[in-house]
Amino acid sequence: MHVRIVGLGPIGTRFAVESLERGHRVTAIDIDQSRLARVAADRNDPLNRYREANAPLELATQPSPGAGCDVTRICVGTTGADGDFDGSSVDFALGALEPMLAKGELVAIESTVPPFSTQTRFRAILESGGRIVGEDVFLVAAPERTDVARSRDESIPKVVGGVTPACTRRGVEIFERLVDTVVPVRSAAVAEAAKMLENAFRFVNVAFANEFAEALAAAGLEPRDVVAAAATKPFGFMAFWPGTGIGGDCVPLAARLYCDFAVTTQTEAAIAGAALRSDALAPQRILRRIERAAGGQAKRVLLLGLSYKSFARSTAWSPGARLARFLVERGLQVDIIEPALTRLDDGSLGTLVTAETLRQPYDVAIVAAWNEEVGAILERKPATVVLDLSGSPHV
Ligand SMILES: NC(=O)c1ccc[n+]([C@@H]2O[C@H](COP(=O)([O-])OP(=O)(O)OC[C@H]3O[C@@H](n4cnc5c(N)ncnc54)[C@H](O)[C@@H]3O)[C@@H](O)[C@H]2O)c1
Repeated sequence: MHVRIVGLGPIGTRFAVESLERGHRVTAIDIDQSRLARVAADRNDPLNRYREANAPLELATQPSPGAGCDVTRICVGTTGADGDFDGSSVDFALGALEPMLAKGELVAIESTVPPFSTQTRFRAILESGGRIVGEDVFLVAAPERTDVARSRDESIPKVVGGVTPACTRRGVEIFERLVDTVVPVRSAAVAEAAKMLENAFRFVNVAFANEFAEALAAAGLEPRDVVAAAATKPFGFMAFWPGTGIGGDCVPLAARLYCDFAVTTQTEAAIAGAALRSDALAPQRILRRIERAAGGQAKRVLLLGLSYKSFARSTAWSPGARLARFLVERGLQVDIIEPALTRLDDGSLGTLVTAETLRQPYDVAIVAAWNEEVGAILERKPATVVLDLSGSPHV
């Protein structure tokens, strides 16, 4: 099969690798030339070894006519700089694609988008040149659910909903050759709304777990002990581990999409709204916790891990960074250990240190995200008080 992937961020890169592993031909498109250059120049780039091994992989900055693709997977970013939904990259990508589509080609919207976007806004772009969706070309919503910090060996079912029944059938046929498990649903909007539900659910629960943790800590209980105890209940409970706040772009985006959806449906998103407000207060709560733990004397903090969640390499949308900035603004010295970075571009976050340049003792060490170096640093007992706010079950 010939698979075209539009948007080579972490998600598109993963799609490209998985498609090549399954023996498909891949054309990977990214509007950002420097992203394509990295595939060739960076030995750690997941696509580099396929390129060097002359795998059937083409890289381009725009779609070309006559490519004869079976499917185009749209996975461009959809979060604006302010954290709200911005669908303009999908519009732009589809606009460039529309004149190039092959007869019978499937277009899959895998970016996170509000319910009904595929059926209305994106369908209109594909039909702007006179083609009919469901006859000449096919269109589905198949929102991506990957956790980039997890192993790719773990198979995640793919929900696929078409704009027409024929689109769903074509989507299922194609995705059965791309993933292990395909879950057809009644419509594109069902697929989009399911993604919104999954991630808004996560947002609300993590916000609750973080808020609850402060009350437990204030009462002299270790929040992680309480979560671990509750997690032994075999039904009706799901463990969310206390963290520094909610990071990444996708989970907060879904909570915001749901709040917007409530406005358009003239309903109320009181719980999600409260969770968004609660999460914005996370740095204040953690400062209070630091002060309580250090007897009000905290001046020097070691922050371990700046990625947006444990074992992710990316520091974009990092709640640890938001916390670091907040603590620096309050006059604390913040040293940061993050092996994925060689320098800190943003001076407002504190100072990047390494195992060699650690300035211990610190009043408090905060595990903001686990990575391969955190355990060894903690063994050196950099602080008398250690708060595990990694949001994950390790240690
Ligand atoms: N990263 C995650 O953990 C995750 C998980 C599930 C779903 N998602 C969703 O998947 C989508 C992609 O996520 P990501 O993290 O890979 O995004 P990203 O923003 O990191 O990468 C998107 C890439 O698309 C490129 N791009 C933008 N406009 C383009 C265009 N018109 N043509 C070609 N390329 C274009 C950008 O240059 C960039 O390299 C988003 O909607 C996100 O919400 C992300």
